[in-house]
Amino acid sequence: MSEPRLDVAMQRPGAHVVGEIDGNPVVESAAPTENHAPRTPALELRHVTKIFTLPNGKQTTAVRDVTLVVEDVAERGEVVSVLGPSGCGKSTILNCVAGLAPHHPPTTGEVLVRGEHVGGPSASRGMVFQAYTSFPHLTVLDNVAFGLRVRGMERDERHAKALDWIGRVGLKGHEHKYPHQLSGGQQQRVAIARTLACRPQMILMDEPFGALDPATRREMQELLLSIYRDPAIEVTILLVTHSVVEAVYLSTKIVLMKPNPGEIVKLWDLAPPSHSFEETRTQPTFVKLVAEIESRLRGRDVDA
Ligand SMILES: Nc1ncnc2c1ncn2[C@@H]1O[C@H](COP(=O)(O)OP(=O)(O)O)[C@@H](O)[C@H]1O
Ligand SMILES: [Mg+2]
Repeated sequence: MSEPRLDVAMQRPGAHVVGEIDGNPVVESAAPTENHAPRTPALELRHVTKIFTLPNGKQTTAVRDVTLVVEDVAERGEVVSVLGPSGCGKSTILNCVAGLAPHHPPTTGEVLVRGEHVGGPSASRGMVFQAYTSFPHLTVLDNVAFGLRVRGMERDERHAKALDWIGRVGLKGHEHKYPHQLSGGQQQRVAIARTLACRPQMILMDEPFGALDPATRREMQELLLSIYRDPAIEVTILLVTHSVVEAVYLSTKIVLMKPNPGEIVKLWDLAPPSHSFEETRTQPTFVKLVAEIESRLRGRDVDA
């Protein structure tokens, strides 16, 4: 197999090829129980269980025994999509990786990013939320430079860096505008540029494009692709989405969860798309995979 990440995926127990998209195999496997990767993974969840205690004293298990390994492939980014019915623990997993309470720390189990234990929030794991989170009183330039300012970078240097990121997310010419002067899609671009400017190892996105119209959403998907194709960036993107088509198009790994309590039931490893969305989405394996995941989500018969 030409794609290094798929060679690694094929080494997992039970891994098998279910078809091809853009000429590259799609590898299906069951949830792993341990790390088989030869290198330190980009992200590893080891038997993560989260039990919340409600104010009435009752306990609810948000996720149970979740083990996930995102293998590191040299000089390549990843887009890992987490799919599952509402309430299955997607946000719990994302926030455990972000190090954000009350989801973090897990009740039992461990979260490691590039081999390091996640003990709390860090700028090396940037969050991008659905709601626009820019500072309304700061220009695009100052919003994107914000994290660099916090780090003590001097003005000229941080502005030069911020301008570079503003260009990469397609906002050149907008640097002196304020967030309210931008469209929803442009505001999401600001949030992404601000996160990227801090050179994170991971970008965590919880339904980031849910509030955007379909055309803008497509543009943002292409932006994500350009980010993880860029060898200078090499970032792992963890994306929670409700759109199965979006997940199958964008992802190099799809994680399917089942509800109550959340567990991973299946994984698919894919090559990044090399054709346009229009060409990719009509291919038989793409159509079949979308249909399979959607029917599993609808029927909730996700116990394969
Ligand atoms: N802060 C919390 N306190 C108590 N229960 C919570 C809390 N956050 C989430 N849960 C519960 O954990 C489960 C998983 O929630 P969540 O991770 O938000 O699911 P998803 O993002 O997949 O919709 C749900 O049953 C939810 O009610
Ligand atoms: Mg959620």
